[in-house]
Amino acid sequence: MITLPGHLEFLSDAWLDDARRFLKREEDHRKDRLGGRPFSVSERFTDAPPHLKFPDDAAAWSLRYDGETAHVSRDFDPAADLVVEGDYQAGLTAAQFVGVLAPGAMTAMSREVARMCGEDAIRVKGSLKDEAAREMMALLHDHMGRRTVENPDLAHRAARQGLTGKIREMEEQGYTIIERAISPEFADEVRKATLRALLPHQTISMNWMLYHGREFERLIQNPLLMTLIDASLGRGAVIASFSSIRKGPGPGVIPMHTDYSHVPEPYPEFALTGVGVWALEDWTLTSGPTWIVPGSHKMRRHPRPGEGHNAGVPIEMPKGSVVFFTHGVWHWQGDRTEPGDRVTLHAHFNRGILRSLEPKKTDVQMLHRNAPRLGEMLGEDDWFDKMSAAGRDHVRFAHMQKLHTFTEKRKRAILEGAA
Ligand SMILES: [Fe+2]
Repeated sequence: MITLPGHLEFLSDAWLDDARRFLKREEDHRKDRLGGRPFSVSERFTDAPPHLKFPDDAAAWSLRYDGETAHVSRDFDPAADLVVEGDYQAGLTAAQFVGVLAPGAMTAMSREVARMCGEDAIRVKGSLKDEAAREMMALLHDHMGRRTVENPDLAHRAARQGLTGKIREMEEQGYTIIERAISPEFADEVRKATLRALLPHQTISMNWMLYHGREFERLIQNPLLMTLIDASLGRGAVIASFSSIRKGPGPGVIPMHTDYSHVPEPYPEFALTGVGVWALEDWTLTSGPTWIVPGSHKMRRHPRPGEGHNAGVPIEMPKGSVVFFTHGVWHWQGDRTEPGDRVTLHAHFNRGILRSLEPKKTDVQMLHRNAPRLGEMLGEDDWFDKMSAAGRDHVRFAHMQKLHTFTEKRKRAILEGAA
């Protein structure tokens, strides 16, 4: 396992031990509500990452509550009251979703997992009839969710998410597009939440969107986009800014540029920064999309006045898609020739060793209602800005070093065609 103390890899032995401890505590003070009624749950997920060393890479577990005690084991019980089967990466994606008891949350979670991983990636059979049993399982889900880390094997994760080719394209072109990374329903929710947060005069750009609601906390952790970010900027990449732009009809107002402000030329060969722009409506030639000059990152410099426009391509993509551009690729905002507003969310990340545009506000309640992924992008997992009485935070340093080494190795495997 590659985790900080208190964090866990999905279905590892330590994960199961933690689940046991949680259930032991809950079964005691929920005894009256559970009323001695037995129930059972079993899950089995295939194609787990090889470093976890599950037999045949299949991870299984069962929970049997006998009316008094919950028994957690490693075996798979196809006759359990509730049986969940599927792909490990899809199961992990669901496992990182915290807050399943909120109204509509379970439906939203299933919808987004199906969107990202495929309709059949998780299959559920049976159900728990008992309300108290269902509530305890939901609380177990959340308890584990706020401790469960993303799959650290970048190549394995990218392959399961269908992103191996996208990572190669990103390195070659300086950008790539993930079509329909969120559902149209979620895109509508985010658009509405963005307009709710903006005042009428706030059009060109509004920062600190993370702190305007759950929609933004969920969007910024999108596992598909995060895989591109990990591949480009390494693990521990931090939010540089999370901004919204509302753009009405008229010429584009952001001219040709790179996102490497104050970075001396030549730019380094590794990427410093990257931006995922979310389309909350269809992006077409007339909607005023971002234009990108493919491969321009290879020049490793700022564009000179008037340069590059001939080679630019408009980013056309359906609602719910995200374009991720990185490596200092050249881009600009297109003209909008149709009526209405284009509303976008810009998830801008920096390599973890760099300073950010937005100061980070660490809200312990926000961390509590999300998986460790959110803390990682707020700089919680690295040793910067931290001290203990003993001096530097060597635990976080060692953790991040291990994660960087593993990620780099697996990225090389992707680019060399070995993954
Ligand atoms: Fe930009």
